[in-house]
Amino acid sequence: MSPVASHKITLGQGGEQHDAADAILASFLVKRFEGKVAIVTGAGSGIGRGTARRLAAEGASVAALDVMGDAVAETVAGITADGGTAIAYTCDVTSEESVTSTVDSIVADLGAPSVVCNVAGIGGFFNSHDMPFDRWQKILAVNLTGPFLVCRAALPHLLEHGGAIVNVCSNTALMGQAYSAAYCASKGGLLMFTKALAAEYLDRGVRANVVAPGGTDTPLLGSFDLPEGADPKQLTKIMSPMGFSTPAEIAASIAFLASDESSYTTGAVLSVDGGLTI
Ligand SMILES: NC(=O)c1ccc[n+]([C@@H]2O[C@H](COP(=O)([O-])OP(=O)(O)OC[C@H]3O[C@@H](n4cnc5c(N)ncnc54)[C@H](O)[C@@H]3O)[C@@H](O)[C@H]2O)c1
Repeated sequence: MSPVASHKITLGQGGEQHDAADAILASFLVKRFEGKVAIVTGAGSGIGRGTARRLAAEGASVAALDVMGDAVAETVAGITADGGTAIAYTCDVTSEESVTSTVDSIVADLGAPSVVCNVAGIGGFFNSHDMPFDRWQKILAVNLTGPFLVCRAALPHLLEHGGAIVNVCSNTALMGQAYSAAYCASKGGLLMFTKALAAEYLDRGVRANVVAPGGTDTPLLGSFDLPEGADPKQLTKIMSPMGFSTPAEIAASIAFLASDESSYTTGAVLSVDGGLTI
């Protein structure tokens, strides 16, 4: 009996159903990344950790990057315990020096990368009229400048051997969200940055695509407290009746776009948002 026929599950509803969703995704595993080196940023938590696990389970040698060294070491310990290959790198994606030296180390340790998944991101709700300038700058730096720096450092290798870039945006790249001007701007910018890469390298063996998650059950959600005077009703627009997704559900779509299974797909946006942007 196929895994689909033997499980009746509703994805993204939480609790035991989350576990069932993750189990069914794991049961489909093939080895699409055997012999490939994959860079995953934000691999210390949430979707990045799920992506690192997924790619490693499918045979990739994973370079797991995060600014939180202990967290990314924990991700790598889990992958190694499961028989996968991964190395943890403490890397701040907003730092040109940190990104450049990390990619140099990856090439020396694991070989040239052919997959790049930019997952690291931060957020927060703010009233735009009194948002602190340093928070604006930080959100843009992590969510938009970070992927640029990582892509710039990795692209010479991808151009030499062929490759795929997957940048993780958000439903907020496609719809306005109250109290989220910096986050929307960063994710909208990342979406168009990705399309620009797709156009630029169209006939040079490098694809670039976007996964745009909706609400996903990760620690990031805890950083979204409503600002003073905010209208909680605004949040109903970003809550799917399907509930939150699991990191593994998002990682499955990232893995598809990172793999040769999507070999004719570039510049695409894959919404995985429980229908928020229908
Ligand atoms: N969770 C959601 O509901 C949701 C929805 C849509 C999009 N996203 C996007 O998915 C991505 C992953 O989010 P998540 O929910 O897994 O969050 P998370 O907070 O669980 O993980 C994000 C990781 O990024 C790392 N990070 C932050 N700043 C960094 C830096 N300067 N350099 C390197 N690493 C850094 C953090 O340490 C953390 O480990 C983000 O880009 C986020 O915007 C999340």
